[in-house]
Amino acid sequence: MRRVAILISGGGSNMVALVKSMTGDHPARAVLVLSNDPGAAGLAKARDLGVATAAVDHRPFGADRAGFEAALLVPLLAAAPDILCLAGFMRMLTPDFVDRFRGRMLNIHPSLLPKYPGLHTHARALAAGDAEAGCTVHEVTAELDAGPILGQARVPVLPGDSEATLAARVLAQEHRLYPAVLRRVAAGDRRPVFL
Ligand code: GAR
Repeated sequence: MRRVAILISGGGSNMVALVKSMTGDHPARAVLVLSNDPGAAGLAKARDLGVATAAVDHRPFGADRAGFEAALLVPLLAAAPDILCLAGFMRMLTPDFVDRFRGRMLNIHPSLLPKYPGLHTHARALAAGDAEAGCTVHEVTAELDAGPILGQARVPVLPGDSEATLAARVLAQEHRLYPAVLRRVAAGDRRPVFL
């Protein structure tokens, strides 16, 4: 059984979808949900699902990213994860941290990468007049939102879409895509999933 730690910063809806998927014959189980924000709403949701949680507030560390990551590693290494899933985790990670989990860390991003790495993806898709939007699960490498693509799901951009309506349509697909990719990766299969 593969052990999965999930890193969140906010509501954790992707985390909930991942945790709920890891039952029965699934080759992995969630062992820890970890947040950089002790007030993240997702922490209570994880506890309700019976998953251990921990939080390391990034704020006292200021610009000391290495210090923050050293603190993050304490609960993380204690949980001995085989796979790390970033699920709405909004802190940048240093190359040292990424290297430690090379090939074992996944991220979900709300755009069809390589389009729109970084923030405000939906606003950028709307401003560009794109006919399509979507989400991507990729392996995390030192370069932001640029690692090998493990899956993508597409949605149409509809007339009258706002950032909020488009984000909601994409998020519904995130909840299908991320569990599908995690199941495949946990089984040792890195072929991308396209929904
Ligand atoms: C999701 O849309 C995820 O793709 C995005 O944050 C949201 C988190 O929602 N991630 C990023 O923008 C990463 N740069 P959730 O907390 O409900 O899963």
